[in-house]
Amino acid sequence: MSKSNLLLELYSNLSTTGALTFSSKALVNKMLTYTDIEHAKLIVELGGGDGSISQGIIERLSPEGELLIFEINQSFCHSMRKQFPQANIKIICDSAENIDKYLGGRKADYIVSSLPFIILPKLVTDKILIKSRDALAPKGKMVIMTYSYHLKKLFKKFFSHMEVKFTFRNLPPAFVMICH
Ligand SMILES: C[S@@+](CC[C@H](N)C(=O)[O-])C[C@H]1O[C@@H](n2cnc3c(N)ncnc32)[C@H](O)[C@@H]1O
Repeated sequence: MSKSNLLLELYSNLSTTGALTFSSKALVNKMLTYTDIEHAKLIVELGGGDGSISQGIIERLSPEGELLIFEINQSFCHSMRKQFPQANIKIICDSAENIDKYLGGRKADYIVSSLPFIILPKLVTDKILIKSRDALAPKGKMVIMTYSYHLKKLFKKFFSHMEVKFTFRNLPPAFVMICH
């Protein structure tokens, strides 16, 4: 799928994508600064979209590492399956609410999210955050990009430690919240 078709898909599904553009390289780098992907065994990404964050993760991933990408949009899933055919990358065309069904009891070193929490129904958001917290390894972290600073209050209900970072180098500027 070309970049313009991916963008068209993003605009056409605003009620589920919640964004007008995909994450910039600078934002992806900023998010991944707070991870140690190179030494991680299992990484989960929530809301793969065009694969911009996935690409950054894959560039750092060791051959022993595994990446599971959750995405509900069929066209994005199809496009990512073509873009990332590697055996250690799995595109899961299902809601992040079902994360536990795919982990089989394994724990993730990192969960990286670009989900539009601001527009997701409260029950769905709560379910995703509870299941993500429970899916993290003891030293694991959830790294969330969001356009809304106010979401910090919500994430604090689920995680005991939080750091908030910010970057202007994205359209719109974005927050990166590191939760554990
Ligand atoms: C803001 S876009 C982010 C896309 C890309 N990762 C980026 O950073 O540019 C959010 C993505 O989350 C997906 N999404 C929304 N709700 C979801 C859910 N419950 N489970 C999995 N993916 C979801 C949307 O289809 C969309 O592709």
